[in-house]
Amino acid sequence: MERLQKVIAHAGIASRRKAEEMIRQGRVKLNGKIVLEMGELVDPDRDEIMVDGKAITQERLVTFLFNKPSGVVTTMDDPQGRPCVSQFFQQVPQRVYPIGRLDFETEGLLLVSNDGDLAYRVMHPRFELDKVYHALVKGIPSEGKLEHLRRGILLEDGMTAPAQAELLHVDKVKSEALLSLTIHEGRNRQVRRMCKAIGHPVLQLTRVKLGFLSLEGVEKGAYRQLTPAEISQLKNLLEARS
Ligand code: URA
Repeated sequence: MERLQKVIAHAGIASRRKAEEMIRQGRVKLNGKIVLEMGELVDPDRDEIMVDGKAITQERLVTFLFNKPSGVVTTMDDPQGRPCVSQFFQQVPQRVYPIGRLDFETEGLLLVSNDGDLAYRVMHPRFELDKVYHALVKGIPSEGKLEHLRRGILLEDGMTAPAQAELLHVDKVKSEALLSLTIHEGRNRQVRRMCKAIGHPVLQLTRVKLGFLSLEGVEKGAYRQLTPAEISQLKNLLEARS
C-alpha cells in the first residue's frame, strides 16, 4: 500500500506537492469517490485512481524469472486444457505473460512479465541474448559432431548461427551424454532439431541461462522477481546492442 499522492506522482502526472494540491482541490477520485484527505493508502495495482476524470492507474511493471517444469505450455491459457504458465502466477495481481517460449517438454528459465518493451527486446533476434541449454542426448557425440554444432547446421529453415557446444557429462553405461549448448537464435525447437541433425536426439532439455540470468536458487515450478538492478542491467545490455 502506498500514499495516494505518491502514486499520482509516480504515474508521471504531477510532482508530489502538485498531487497534494490536486487532492485538496477535489480533482482526485479513488474507486469512484472524491478524496480530500491527505495520506489515503492505496494499492496501485488494484485501486482505481482518477485525476480530472481520467484513470491513472498503471500496472506496476514486474518481471519474474520462472523455472518452468516439463509438461507446461508457455501460454497463459490453453484451449486443450493442459497445464500452463498462468497457473503458477495466480498470486500475482499484474497481467503478466511469458517472454518467448519453451516447448511443452522443455524445462528451465523463462521470463514472465508485463513489461512490453523488455519483452520485445528479449525476444528480438537482433539483440542476440545468449541462451544456454543443457541437453541430455541419446548416444555420445564425437568431437567432430560437436564441431558441426559449433560451425552451424543446415536445418529446413536455413543455417544455424555459430554456437558453443561442450560435453558436460558422459554416461557410457546408458549411452547418454549431457551437452551444454549456447545459442542466441530462438527458432522453433532449435536445440532439438540441431541435436537430431547430428544423430543425437534430445531426451531432456533445460534452459539454464538467459544472458547473465541463471536458474540459481529457483526451484522447479518456482519463480523470483527480478531486482531493479537486474532489470536495468538487462535493459542496458539490450540497449548496447540496438
Ligand atoms: N530449443 C528447443 O528445441 N526447445 C526449446 O524449448 C528451446 C530451445
